[in-house]
Amino acid sequence: MSTPVSIQIEDGIAVITIDSPPVNAISAAIRRGLLAASEQLATDTSVKGVVLLCAGRTFMAGADISEFGGFMPPPELRNVLTVFESLPQPIVVALHGTALGGGVEVALAGHYRIADKGAKLGFPEVTLGIVPGAVGTQRLPRLIGAENALKMFLDGKAVGAEEAKALGLIDEVVEGDLRTAAVDYTKKLLAAGKGPRRVRDLQVAPLSEERISELRAQARKQHKGVITPELDILAVRASWELPFEQGLALERAISDGSLATPESKAMRHLFFAEREVAEVPGISKADAPRDVKRIGIIGSGTMGGGIAMAFANAGIHATLIDIDQAALERGLATVRKNYDASVKRGRMTAADVEQRMSLIVGSTSYDSLKDADLVIEAVFEDMGLKKKIFAELDRVCKPGAILATNTSTLDINLIAAATKRPQDVLGLHFFSPANVMRLLEIVRTDTTANDVVATAFALAKKIRKIGVLSKVCFGFIGNRMMDPYAREAQRMVLEGATPAQVDSALEGFGMAMGILAVFDMAGVDVGVKVRAANPDKGSPDPTFYRADQVLYGQGWLGQKSGKGYYKYEAGSRERHPHEEALKLLAEEAQKLGVARRSDISAQEVLERCIYSMINEGARILEEGVALRPGDIDVVYTSGYGFARWRGGPMFYADQIGLDTVLAGIQKYGKRFNAVDWTPAPLLVKLAAEGSSFTAWAAARAKSAS
Ligand code: 3HC
Ligand code: NAI
Repeated sequence: MSTPVSIQIEDGIAVITIDSPPVNAISAAIRRGLLAASEQLATDTSVKGVVLLCAGRTFMAGADISEFGGFMPPPELRNVLTVFESLPQPIVVALHGTALGGGVEVALAGHYRIADKGAKLGFPEVTLGIVPGAVGTQRLPRLIGAENALKMFLDGKAVGAEEAKALGLIDEVVEGDLRTAAVDYTKKLLAAGKGPRRVRDLQVAPLSEERISELRAQARKQHKGVITPELDILAVRASWELPFEQGLALERAISDGSLATPESKAMRHLFFAEREVAEVPGISKADAPRDVKRIGIIGSGTMGGGIAMAFANAGIHATLIDIDQAALERGLATVRKNYDASVKRGRMTAADVEQRMSLIVGSTSYDSLKDADLVIEAVFEDMGLKKKIFAELDRVCKPGAILATNTSTLDINLIAAATKRPQDVLGLHFFSPANVMRLLEIVRTDTTANDVVATAFALAKKIRKIGVLSKVCFGFIGNRMMDPYAREAQRMVLEGATPAQVDSALEGFGMAMGILAVFDMAGVDVGVKVRAANPDKGSPDPTFYRADQVLYGQGWLGQKSGKGYYKYEAGSRERHPHEEALKLLAEEAQKLGVARRSDISAQEVLERCIYSMINEGARILEEGVALRPGDIDVVYTSGYGFARWRGGPMFYADQIGLDTVLAGIQKYGKRFNAVDWTPAPLLVKLAAEGSSFTAWAAARAKSAS
């Protein structure tokens, strides 16, 4: 069997090469190979120095995450590294690409470290809910100090080679051929009489309790609801409180324990789900993405402006069209204002703004789109207007140009039918603010060509978004599932819960923002207009989206008018109780005969909002609107503020058990409107079988392959 670890010995220097594409993740084969290489070199007196490096695009990107959660074949990386570190020859580890987690831990077990100038080093474990487990928490503080080490673990972000050198994490930044540089470096060490220099032998100065508290407070803000930072602190503390061997044992217990937490399972699920979304059955390499260099955007309002920024941020040229010069100038001014705000926050320089603005060119003529490879329409949500625009685009755009709509609710099949190129039409549903939000729903119509879908995925990656495929339906994946979720939140305020009660239950669960606060932020009018434009998507129940109507009727549109579900002081987003609204909502409840209650618990809020959302998710799966439960989870965690540590609504449902979800839905079905609470057939089936969405998806994938 071929091993991903090989040794070449030349002039007394052994070069260990790890070669396991795509990212040299530290699998059992690598661990075995590295152990065997270390054992071989330990007794080879002809070898005077050792180099360890990786082939391919990157140094080791960490442990093989797919091994976590099941049986992990021996040997353990931590034990391999003890043998590796003990080699009698000086070891130079040469890093390139993204050296992450276990990859950096391997480097720390070496005696000297050099890195290519483009290399990045980091510990992203916190984003997976795990504590480094290959002695990183004991070696890193010894090398770069407890504070810097803890910051790296808590932050989870990688540092560049120069910064790593400044921290003392690496000894030298090099350019050119890395292998040559590493061998030369080793020869220089040998010539200077330098031998092994083991990190385990260094001492760590303790970090003060005050500083630990400050870092803890920062980490809690950055990783809300997650226990990992606390565990990181515990492990790093051992680096100065305990001898190395005992620290190692403690780290092992903490790290192994972290792997078993629900939050770690959830975040690892998302790691793979985020990579699986781009796999679309039926689309192969033969469906090569079309070349997209020039973008056209119709409508320079909230979405059009944000979309133009998303492209400009990725260095892509965009022509922004609006109905007349005044509207266009307003749109461009907003784009500039948004960029200027980023400068004020220190996120970019004035020169960056000019460079990006130079990529966005305004126009009022559709003819300026004749060279565009892709046009995204973002005008008012009006089918007649959109159809007219698509017919016009069909006329001016070159053959093969892709025509996309950013519609939130309209039937894109009908929009595609307004053109003579329905195969080139699809939905690209961005989320507001479009230059910030990671999610992009790629909405395929009945006629969208495979290579157009492939182009959309490629483009999403280019503009650093995460594309998720949806079929056409009202609200696509995200908004369709938000419908019952918001419906219940609005009903509960009619029944007597305060908006703060509803939102704090949701935020306590892990939503970034409660749904009623979201309505206030987005504008209460937005939802009301969507309802008005889609009368057939309502419910016979008069309480359906009634709270929005009550507020809208008073002109209480949320933050922009200072009043909505909450009250706001000018220029502030801080929520205050809006007593007038509460009074009016109580009166409305009375008119509708809704019984007022004072016993709506946080648990009831969660069950009604989250279970109803999951139920709709089950329908979406059954109808094939979303390809996989993981796709829905990615939509919710990257576009709707669903806590990553919960893994997304479908993963969460699996964790609590589909029978629990179904029982909740049946309970509320009996109590309230049975139509709204009809359980999805897939949910009923899987609950009866004691199965899960994950198992259902795995079985389907197996039968398709
Ligand atoms: N384990 C298993 N598979 C991994 C992996 C890992 N650590 N890192 C990446 N992969 C896989 C991906 O799933 C993907 O597989 P696919 O092609 O079948 O979908 C493939 O490698 C390529 O990955 P990306 O699509 O993400 O490629 P990019 O070039 O966009 O990004 C990367 C490369 C920056 C290395 C990114 O993959 C990444 O961030 N990886 C995760 C790194 C990480 O979290 N490491 C820590 C692991 S935990 C650990 O080390 C614990 C330690 O203490 C023992
Ligand atoms: P907006 O009202 O802020 O902007 C619309 C822009 O289109 C205006 O600048 C208007 O002058 C321009 N316009 C109107 N007719 C035009 C025409 N014939 N030619 C060129 N420009 C024209 O609207 P917003 O919020 O940006 O929404 C645009 C689209 O994006 C809608 O379909 C909406 O449903 C969708 N959407 C909106 C989201 C949001 O949060 N605002 C989120 C996701 C999608």
